[in-house]
Amino acid sequence: MNRITAPQLCVIPGDGIGQEVIPAAVAVLTAAIPHLQIVMAEAGWGTFEKVGVSVPEETLTAVRECGAGLFGAVSSPSHKVAGYRSAILAMRQELDLYANIRPVQSWPRVSPRLDVDMIIVRENTEGLYVGRERWEDGGDTAVAERLITRRASLRIAQKTLELMQRQNRHKLTIVHKANVLPLTDGLFRDSVREVFAGAGITVEELLVDVAALKMVAAPESFDVIVTTNLFGDILSDAAAHWGGGLGLAASLNWGDGVALAEPVHGSAPDIAGKGVANPIAAILSGALLARYVWGLEEGAGRVETAVARTLVHETYPQLTTTQAITHSILASL
Ligand code: NAD
Ligand code: IPM
Ligand code: MN
Repeated sequence: MNRITAPQLCVIPGDGIGQEVIPAAVAVLTAAIPHLQIVMAEAGWGTFEKVGVSVPEETLTAVRECGAGLFGAVSSPSHKVAGYRSAILAMRQELDLYANIRPVQSWPRVSPRLDVDMIIVRENTEGLYVGRERWEDGGDTAVAERLITRRASLRIAQKTLELMQRQNRHKLTIVHKANVLPLTDGLFRDSVREVFAGAGITVEELLVDVAALKMVAAPESFDVIVTTNLFGDILSDAAAHWGGGLGLAASLNWGDGVALAEPVHGSAPDIAGKGVANPIAAILSGALLARYVWGLEEGAGRVETAVARTLVHETYPQLTTTQAITHSILASL
């Protein structure tokens, strides 16, 4: 017998504008999704300064128990701080959130092009992000290991295939650099091809440099991209331009049985505390949870339609503060 349970969401605002955009997203999600239960938790640089860890064990437990989280952003220093680990990287690793789904589509008025509709699937646990850096040569050489495993490559490919079947998408582009890195990127590429063999989906491949050119020159030609961690990080920021910029770029870190939605942007210290951060990326990230994790396509669609209406109907004074944008989206739901 199917037992219908209310969706649960662990909310982690984090640092900087995370504290502003996440409450906005929670307001919209609770209005759009009946019976959504909210559990609050902490992570980030502020948490590290307070308790000495960026992600307390209770936060990981809360996300696991809810099965879904919404995270704002973290501020990370770009020098090494003893004992500190970026909260988002720690959560991706600890919760084994191995796929990072980053859809980019054209939105009315804010997108520089009308016909972009792609999903970037970024491997989220390995590559250069394993963080294995070390000194050699008495401190004159710094080495970073880039790890690619068959297991992680096969499972990201499998997740991509399931997503494409579910969303009725037909063309996959594998982005890699196997001409220079034949072992690591060759393994990634071959693993993806193995999973897609006979699936009835067109599979093409592009070297990452040409993919970057195409992302600038012909973004509408992409359907779904699957790639390794750092290439996905870089390409998804570039792609975000076509969706109206970082203020609209949503993402979903997705593992088996647990997911963490998160706007692609960071803590934006230059505008934090001013009440001008765009909450749409956080709101659309919440819609990704509704669609992919809770299976609430209608709820996700309602949120996205309300965002589109706001972009079409509101003009500039109404679109310049976090609060005004949130009110307009709530009114359009
Ligand atoms: P950022 O994304 O915070 O900001 C880049 C630029 O975009 C800034 O000018 C900012 O004002 C603007 N911007 C970002 N989000 C916006 C929004 N919602 N509305 C309006 N403008 C917005 O990137 P950054 O400045 O390179 O990094 C700042 C800090 O955030 C760093 O400590 C970095 O490590 C961290 N960061 C965290 C995440 C994350 O938590 N997932 C992602 C990227 C960067
Ligand atoms: C992102 C961010 C993170 C990343 C940073 C904050 C560690 O840029 O989510 O894209 O590099 O993955
Ligand atoms: Mn990034």
